[in-house]
Amino acid sequence: MHANNQKRLLGKLVLGITGGIAAYKAAELVRLLVKAGFEVQVVMTNAACQFITPVTMQALSGKPVFIDMWDSSISNGMPHIELSRNADAILVAPASADFMAKLVQGRADDLLSTLCLARNCPLLVAPAMNKQMWENPATQRNINQLKADGISILGPDCGEQACGEVGLGRMLEAEALLALVNAHFTPKLLAGKRVLITAGATLEMLDPVRAITNLSSGKMGYAIAQVAADMGAEVTLVIGATALSAPAGVNKISAISANEMYDAVMSNIIQQDIFIAVAAVADYRPVTQQPEKIKKNASTLSISLTRNKDILAEVASLPNAPFCVGFAAETENLLEYAEAKRQAKKLPLIVANLAGEALGSDENSVTLLDKNGAHPLVRAPKIDIARLLLAHLAGML
Ligand code: CTP
Repeated sequence: MHANNQKRLLGKLVLGITGGIAAYKAAELVRLLVKAGFEVQVVMTNAACQFITPVTMQALSGKPVFIDMWDSSISNGMPHIELSRNADAILVAPASADFMAKLVQGRADDLLSTLCLARNCPLLVAPAMNKQMWENPATQRNINQLKADGISILGPDCGEQACGEVGLGRMLEAEALLALVNAHFTPKLLAGKRVLITAGATLEMLDPVRAITNLSSGKMGYAIAQVAADMGAEVTLVIGATALSAPAGVNKISAISANEMYDAVMSNIIQQDIFIAVAAVADYRPVTQQPEKIKKNASTLSISLTRNKDILAEVASLPNAPFCVGFAAETENLLEYAEAKRQAKKLPLIVANLAGEALGSDENSVTLLDKNGAHPLVRAPKIDIARLLLAHLAGML
């Protein structure tokens, strides 16, 4: 796998849009899919065109939208065959109750239902409907049948609906659908593996309202957790201080101080195959934590600090240590210091990055160091860095 600055093609999708108010979310979904690197061919039903215009979808996907079974612009006159043969997957979002009923029966009375029937690729369906329609035994029967037919059902979500009711049935948000599509397209390189990841910074409290910390957004650790889960691993994410919301599909444990993080890691380390220490753990903590807020009475204030345990080094030296990966953020002599850390902590793999450069950013530029030497990765979004790192790791396992 190569990371480069040109957008990688992650896959070719047909996005089917059926008639429902959630069709408006399909516009954002197309934008996100295209941005992430998918080629998207939109196919709409006539009913969908009542909710959102093909012009909008064409502008966002960069391709003409197909609606009609009898479209003459496709050279062989068989758009249902041509479109489904070209696709790596078909995603129907939103999928109305009526459209799912049609899928169950194998009916083919418009372009979208016909190409779903004629497909030889996976079909993913994101239901969207009112909660009564969702709960109706007919819909539930249909959902069970679609699952039995090997169709992936994405969602639905629970919450406020366009009709004003609250419950299960509304379509997943575009971001959640993008994550599920990404997972669908990710090779399952870590299937059956258990992965423990630390992410974010730790807070070492001085008093109830002040703390010593490191600068870390948590984005890199979250990206690795997301991709590891997409690759089929069972992921446990030990989360320090971060403002991000954790990815879906991972076990989450909150650990704010280095000591809490140490305890969380050690009590979950048995049975893990892989440990990836991404957290920016404070090396020191105040010797004492004041129970009340420190008042600014004195003109100077000294704080005594004591060393925190090195979580990564301790895990790596366990008798049955998992495969350990460390991060080394340095401001100078990057590769030299990182390699020294790799050897000192006895790690098979360390990720070296220049401190400051990646902080808070969505991109990162890193070098992987293992016993075979340095493997530089070009600057890329953190999600791509995570993919490359985990593909390299899976190769080493
Ligand atoms: N780490 C850890 N526990 C600590 C400190 C660091 O698990 N108490 C992990 C980090 O998650 C990261 C790696 O160790 O994977 C960083 O190594 P380290 O030598 O601790 O880096 P720095 O703290 O930056 O070291 P130094 O200040 O000496 O450069």
